[in-house]
Amino acid sequence: LATPWGGKAVRVYIIDDSNINLMLFEEIILRIGVEVEIETYLDPVDGLARCIEQLPDLLVVDYMMPGLDGHEVIEQVRQLPNSADVPIVMVTATDEPQVRIRALQLGATDFIAKPIDPHEVKARLFNLLSLRRNHLLLQDTNVWLAEEVRKATKVIADREVELINRLARAAEFRDPETGAHITRMALYSRLIAQSLTLPADTCDDIFRTAPMHDIGKLGIPDGILLKPGRLNEHERTVIKRHPEIGYLILMGSESPLIKLGAEIALNHHEKVDGTGYPRGLSGDQIPLSGRIVAVADVLDALTTERPYKRAWSLDRARDFLLENCGTHFDQTCVDALLANWDEVKHIHEQFCDPPLPGDELVLDDQ
Ligand SMILES: [Fe+2]
Ligand SMILES: [Fe+2]
Repeated sequence: LATPWGGKAVRVYIIDDSNINLMLFEEIILRIGVEVEIETYLDPVDGLARCIEQLPDLLVVDYMMPGLDGHEVIEQVRQLPNSADVPIVMVTATDEPQVRIRALQLGATDFIAKPIDPHEVKARLFNLLSLRRNHLLLQDTNVWLAEEVRKATKVIADREVELINRLARAAEFRDPETGAHITRMALYSRLIAQSLTLPADTCDDIFRTAPMHDIGKLGIPDGILLKPGRLNEHERTVIKRHPEIGYLILMGSESPLIKLGAEIALNHHEKVDGTGYPRGLSGDQIPLSGRIVAVADVLDALTTERPYKRAWSLDRARDFLLENCGTHFDQTCVDALLANWDEVKHIHEQFCDPPLPGDELVLDDQ
């Protein structure tokens, strides 16, 4: 064979009840000029058992044998998994066309007529081995290609997540809410999604895109966004535009992740009784992602210290969520969160905010 078999020897089984034929075929195959491992079987039952154990790269099988004939061997080998591409040659002394037609129907690849012509047999077996080798090479290439595509796809997906995180980080620079808020509310959101038994991929996507919920604050003037005191009516109207601005930033993407981010940005201030904004949707009209993030976002806002307010305890925040079920919050989302309250406590304690300006840092010198 012109191209080597990647260092692997070709495995050939010969099944024939005649010792002389076995030796003859073995001799011819050895002269083909490739590294072969030849196994010969006088008893077709043994030959078949070996095929079941490990398929060959080429099977030469006699037709007339006691116990199992060539047809039966071919039929049973072709039922083995991955056997479809193994060349099988049947050796037949008879010219009866029915025997050959039946063999073809059962899956024989070629025939050799007895008495055999060594030159013809060598040429035929060489061709069949070439076919087998090319098939295996193609299979290897396909496996390699599939792996390359998988790696390339992962690189793209990772970059998408990275860009989303960087976009969220850009928004953090303008937003008084801290990075720890983004982390916690994303974790709470995933916790709710998991508790609702959404598919694992969806839970992860919600975790990745929830940080973009307030990306629209990029479009709110500093004077309003960073104003320390209470907002007046006009300022409240302006700040309430941030869901729509976030949606405008993220809308129209082909990426399922960014689409989900757009959905969350647009809907995270909707309330189930229809009194939220920007669209005043109610109940199930609000996409589930929006209802989930609404609970997670408010829980974290309540339990976090802000320049204008002290942090609530987790217990007080839980009461607030319960009191506002069915009006502000979706009952099932709140239930899903409360069912995992220990995990909520863990997230709350694990991701602390940096001290606010003016807070005293107490250093322990001892
Ligand atoms: Fe918001
Ligand atoms: Fe938020």
